[in-house]
Amino acid sequence: MRIEIYHASKYGNGAEVAEELRRLLESRGHQARAQHFKDASPGSLPSADLYVFGSPGRIGKPIGGMRRFLKKAKLPAGTRYALFSTEAMPRPDKNGRMPTEEEIAQWQRIQPLMDEILVSKELRKVADAKIYVKDLKGPLEDGWQRKVEQFADAW
Ligand SMILES: Cc1cc2nc3c(=O)[nH]c(=O)nc-3n(C[C@H](O)[C@H](O)[C@H](O)COP(=O)(O)O)c2cc1C
Repeated sequence: MRIEIYHASKYGNGAEVAEELRRLLESRGHQARAQHFKDASPGSLPSADLYVFGSPGRIGKPIGGMRRFLKKAKLPAGTRYALFSTEAMPRPDKNGRMPTEEEIAQWQRIQPLMDEILVSKELRKVADAKIYVKDLKGPLEDGWQRKVEQFADAW
């Protein structure tokens, strides 16, 4: 398969994920390229069997540049895509209670907002992965490479 990976990393964590994914896919015999979205033209994306989009979280949303990139992306209906996001690791509140999945989902709308844009273009999702960063600017959570592997196994 030919796979194009576009990420929106600001501090380098998402770039690391994208590069690990590219390396893994190449080792499995695919043709894969990973780029920062700023180095690509959304109106004339090269043809591929699958597009992977990655974004960091910003105030519960994908970073603005990636949202605009996805809105401008010209891809035919039915095109397959996968998403990854790098997000702040959930933390316990002052009483030591961890937020539930439902509570987190009310605030963290990173992937749902990316999906909303892509589904409106009739693109077809094949997989997603959420990779945590331990602090606001990183580093990536322990064992993140395993999550990337599982992500690549899903399509
Ligand atoms: C101003 C600011 C706001 C942030 N808001 C969120 C947020 O709402 N949700 C979240 O999961 N992460 C948030 N983060 C942390 C990002 O997830 C983290 O910076 C990012 O995943 C790192 O990836 P990068 O190195 O590829 O940029 C925020 C970070 C900054 C600097």
